[in-house]
Order: sequence, then C-alpha cells, then structure tokens
Amino acid sequence: MNPVNPENPENPENPENVETTVKAIVIQAYGGPEGLAVVDLPAPAPAAGQVLIAVEAVGVGGVDILLRSGALAAYGYKEGLVPGSEVAGTVTAVGDGVDTSWIGRRVWAFTGTGGGYVEEAVARVEDISPLPADLSAVDAVTLGSSGVVAHYGLAHAHFAPGETVLVRGAAGSIGIMTVQLAARGGAAAVAVTTSSADRGERLRKLGATHVLDRSGKGGQDAPTGYDVVIDIVAGDGMPSFFDRLDPNGRMVTVGAVAGQPPADFGMKLMASFQKSLSFAVFSAASVSEADRGAVRSEQFAAAARGELTSVVHELLPLDQAVPAHRKMDAGEVFGRIVLTP
Ligand SMILES: NC(=O)c1ccc[n+]([C@@H]2O[C@H](COP(=O)([O-])OP(=O)(O)OC[C@H]3O[C@@H](n4cnc5c(N)ncnc54)[C@H](OP(=O)(O)O)[C@@H]3O)[C@@H](O)[C@H]2O)c1
Repeated sequence: MNPVNPENPENPENPENVETTVKAIVIQAYGGPEGLAVVDLPAPAPAAGQVLIAVEAVGVGGVDILLRSGALAAYGYKEGLVPGSEVAGTVTAVGDGVDTSWIGRRVWAFTGTGGGYVEEAVARVEDISPLPADLSAVDAVTLGSSGVVAHYGLAHAHFAPGETVLVRGAAGSIGIMTVQLAARGGAAAVAVTTSSADRGERLRKLGATHVLDRSGKGGQDAPTGYDVVIDIVAGDGMPSFFDRLDPNGRMVTVGAVAGQPPADFGMKLMASFQKSLSFAVFSAASVSEADRGAVRSEQFAAAARGELTSVVHELLPLDQAVPAHRKMDAGEVFGRIVLTP
C-alpha cells in the first residue's frame, strides 16, 4: 500500500512524496486479545548486520501472549510493540556488512522478543537459518525455536538411549518436539502429561508410549520412576513430578506455563539426598547462535525428509491475530497457530 506522504500531500505523483507501508499487528492496549490492532507501518529497512524478509509465515508463541497481556511490562516492553519472534520467508534486502548472496534465499528468522507480526520483518543475520527446498515456511516457524529448546533440554538432562523420559506439558510446541526427539533418540519409554484423551492419541502417534493426566495419574503400565523429566509447566505441581525420578534421575524445567514452583522446591533435592537426583533449568539464551543454528538446520533437514513432524494447529491470515490469541488464551492449541501475511 502506498498512501500519500502526509508531510507533503501537494504532489502525490512525485515518488519522493510516497511512503511505502506494510501491514502489521501492534499491541495497542495491554490485556485481552482485543488490544491487538491491524495497522499500516512504514516499511522497514535493514540496518547494518540485518536482513529484510518478505514474511510468508509467523509462528504464534507463548511469549506473544505474555507480551500482549502486559505481563512483561516490568521488563520495559511498552504498548505499541509489534509481537512475534519467529518468521519465515524470503530475504529481499540486506544491510551493510551482510553478504548479498542472502538475497532471494528462503530463511527462518528469530526477530527478537517482538517484530514478527508484519508483512516485512528485519532480523540480525546471526538469527536466520536457511530453509531446505522441501520445507515450507509454515513448517519452519512451527519447528524453528521449539525444536532447539527440546534438543538442548534433553541434552541438558544428559538423556541417553534406553532411558525413560516423562514430558510434562507435552501438547505444546516444545513438548511435541521433545516427545519426537526422545522417541527418535531411543528412549525406553516416553510418558506424557496432557489434558485430553484425544491429545494423548495424537502424542502417541508422535512417539509417546504412555499418556498421563495433568496430575501424572493414569497411563496403564507406565513406569513408576523416570531417568529424565522434561517439565514445561512448573507451578505448584512441579514437586510431585520431581518425586517421579529414579535414583540418579534428572529433571530439567524449560518452561513455566503454570507459573513459579513453590518457594521451598529446592528442599526437595536435600530431602531425596540418597537418590543423587539433579534439578536444572534450561534456557536457549545460554546457547550460542551458531550452535542453535546448527541444531535448527539439522532439524529442518530431518523434517524435510519426513523424520520430524511439525504440528500446525491452524493457519490464519495475519489480520486474524485476535482470534489466534483467543484460542491461545483458551488453551485450545495443540502445536502451533501460524499467521500468514
Ligand atoms: N527454555 C527456553 O529456552 C524457552 C524458549 C521459549 C519458550 N519457553 C517457555 O516454554 C513455555 C511455552 O512452551 P509451549 O509453547 O510448548 O507450551 P504451551 O503450549 O503454552 O503449554 C504446554 C502445555 O501445557 C499444558 N498446560 C497448560 N497450562 C497448564 C497448567 N496450568 N497445568 C498443567 N498443564 C498445563 C497444556 O496441555 P494440556 O492442556 O494438554 O495439558 C499445554 O498445551 C513458556 O513457559 C515459555 O516461556 C522456554
């Protein structure tokens, strides 16, 4: 869209008086999804070290919901921000210092805490990964960041073939990838927690061997103890899952969708001293961009070969960000919602 530059509407035929804009979603007011608005913003230009991407797909992530709600306001994020951290599309321009051979290539990109819900996005060249020819932009934004967290979460837990794994909160994008990677990695059992039998069946198709409810009950013949627990939920229930560890077991918390654990959680380690248990948190922020990029490229190649499955809950046009966020708020999403500009 090329509206007349409001600074000088006298000569609309003069290209210098025309401002190019792109459609974007901004958080106009913190709170519910209705605080999101479709707006036209000046088309971005890549700064030094950045690329410009014609966006084909945007992943809707949990952090977008936190940003929109205002939960991250204390960290300096202000209303007026464009949410979205994960996009895929084609590089159309590069800034100073960036190899021009990127132009025309299809890439996945991390845009930062925000900046993704837009027709044209900028990203640092360190934060882009090329897409294999057989991988769609939609699949890329479904796997791109969650797969890396799943990979390093399991690595942080020193997961080894033949071990038993419990994935708590398996129905989200990180859990779905963790289930697949644990199964592919030769786990003796992959138990999952989820809130419905239908989700349990879908997780079985991805490699889960036992389906438990959110409290960890159920799952016929499920192991009574686990070598590894990957926790995406945290909250009040976290201690009871720590208790599921076998001697020398390791629990790694990679997400906290139910909030913080009880303040005295650390005492669990001392109380189970004779089991030599370990607890850790893992954030992808502690891994270099190069290492994250290498794992992502391996996973993209595996997905293109059909060895990893991307689970897309729904495709929606970019201007349907409000219903997308409503579905996220309602806990309806299995996998990822993807917005398409
Ligand atoms: N470590 C990192 O580097 C990293 C990177 C990005 C994001 N994260 C974190 O990862 C989390 C988001 O991951 P995600 O998108 O995969 O998760 P998600 O989809 O938000 O949640 C995972 C699943 O947990 C279950 N769940 C939701 N609320 C629950 C509750 N109160 N009690 C028990 N279960 C509940 C839901 O499944 P059911 O309804 O089937 O139970 C949900 O599908 C966030 O905490 C985010 O900050 C971490």
